[in-house]
This record gives sequence, structure tokens and C-alpha cells, in this order.
Amino acid sequence: MSPTSSDQALSADAITGRLRAAGCVFAEEEAQLLIESASSPDALRAMVSERVSGVPLEHVVGWAEFCGLRIAIDPGVFVPRRRSELLARSAAKLCRPGGTTPRNPPRGRPGGMTPRNPPRGLPGWTVVVDLACGSGAVGAAIATLAADVELHATDIDRAAVACARRNLEPVGGQVYAGDLYEPLPGRLRGRVSVIAANVPYVPTEAVALMPSEARVYEPPVALDGGPDGLDVLRRAATGAAAWLMPGGHVLIETASGQADTAAAAFAAAGLAATVARDAELGATVVIGRRRAAGGC
Ligand SMILES: C[S@@+](CC[C@H](N)C(=O)[O-])C[C@H]1O[C@@H](n2cnc3c(N)ncnc32)[C@H](O)[C@@H]1O
Repeated sequence: MSPTSSDQALSADAITGRLRAAGCVFAEEEAQLLIESASSPDALRAMVSERVSGVPLEHVVGWAEFCGLRIAIDPGVFVPRRRSELLARSAAKLCRPGGTTPRNPPRGRPGGMTPRNPPRGLPGWTVVVDLACGSGAVGAAIATLAADVELHATDIDRAAVACARRNLEPVGGQVYAGDLYEPLPGRLRGRVSVIAANVPYVPTEAVALMPSEARVYEPPVALDGGPDGLDVLRRAATGAAAWLMPGGHVLIETASGQADTAAAAFAAAGLAATVARDAELGATVVIGRRRAAGGC
């Protein structure tokens, strides 16, 4: 969409100026994205106003880039962070190799992924759970990066579940509403190879200190992890063993300073724990392995 010369308020320069004045660091890039995403001058005007008033860019345009995919993001749903790409890529490495490596989110339909029929219990397929899936970004990336993935996802928040269905059904994923593992089909007990989870991990007192884009536009249930931030992680680690196959893995993102406490929670749940870090992304993932039947 390009504005007419008579509508100078909608020129790239004018929009960039408004965004910069509102404190947007990447004002030029954001202006370009808004112009490309708007379907009409009126829509562009509304989108710029929303962004200037502080609505996260991803909620304004309706999508976020994650692992090279275009993930649909509905209002009120947690916006996937770049650092969670470590979680998705680490989980994909524990599945069968041979998926595709997406580059640059395709234009058009959110998701931008190849539709697939949901596989059910096929021999040789890797059963993966995206726990506390939000938009489903982590699960979508795993299903794209790894081959032959049977994907299941859960979230407690109805808006997240609806959004995740938009992103995961095209890659054959099933999304369930409920608390952690509770809504998963019983047939998956002891059959899951990989559980990837980005549960809320901000300590309750620190939520008030978060940028307004998170505090105001993302739900508290997506952020607040209890007094030390690890309440939901502890429950996720404790519950993992019942769902993992022997030798299966559970991966949970944490803040850097939480890794040791989280690893101890994994050990208390009977999991052998290691920690993966990516300094460039500022990412930390605790990885637990259910011991194989023989004990190691
Ligand atoms: C930090 S967000 C991460 C979302 C997504 N995994 C991602 O990385 O973009 C945490 C998500 O956990 C969900 N959640 C919080 N408590 C939960 C629970 N007890 N059971 C299932 N989901 C939960 C929230 O609704 C939210 O979508």
C-alpha cells in the first residue's frame, strides 16, 4: 500500500518521525512494516496510532517472526521472543533431523507453513509436546526444523489456545486447553520424546518492572512465575517423567540466574539435567533427560 501524495501524514518519513517521537528504537523498519502490512490508508492510520500508543508491533501487524517463520499473534497473546529460538532449535536437534530450514517469513497467510495431515501414532514419528505453547511458535519451529514430528501443544489461556490452533493445525499439530499436562490424551503417557516448554518465569515482584509492552499487553498468566519465578517450571519438571519415554528429554527456558535452581528441580524430579546457553540471544535452557530403563 502506498499513500497518495496528498496524504503526507502517511508518508514513510512522517510515520518514522511519529514512531521515533513515541520512543520506537527501530522507527524506520517499523514504519516500513506498517506500510507493507496495511490494506488501506485508513488501516495504516489506525495501525500507526495503535503503535504510537504503545501496542506491541506484533499485535498491530498480527504476526511475529520466529525461527524464520511468520507466526500469527492475536491480541492478548504472548509475543514469542528471539531468545526462545534456542529452546526450539535445541528441541529440534533432539528429534529426527531432516526438516526444512525456513528463511525470511513468507508474505501472506500467517504461519506460512506447509499444511499437513495430523499423524496419529505412526511408527518412527517423534512425539513432541509444546507445553504452555502461547501462540505455538516453539512447536511450529520444531515441526518445521525436524522431520516426522507428531506435535501436541497445551496452554491454560483460551486466547493462546485459539491462536496456537491457527499456527499449529497447518503443520498437523493438536492444541488442548488446560493446566500443563492435564489436557493431553492419555495414550501419550510414556511415549513423548521431547517436551519443550517456555512457562512463565518472571518473579512476581519483577512483573511490575517489565516494559509496558509486556505488562499491559501480555496476560499476567504468561509472565508471573511466582515468588522466585520457578513455580510453574517445578510443576512442569515434576510432571515430565510420566509422559516422557525412557531416554526422552524435557527442555525449559529460564533466566540465566535461575538455571542452577531449575537444574536442581529437574534432579529432584529424577531427571539428569544439563544447561544450554546462547550469549548472543541472551538465552538459557535447562535440559532434562529421563533415564533409560537400565538406569543411565
Ligand atoms: C512466557 S509465555 C510462552 C508462550 C510460548 N511458549 C512462547 O514461547 O512464545 C507462557 C505461556 O504459558 C501459559 N501458561 C501459564 N501457566 C500455564 C499452565 N499452568 N498450564 C499451561 N499453560 C500455562 C500462558 O498462558 C502463556 O501462553
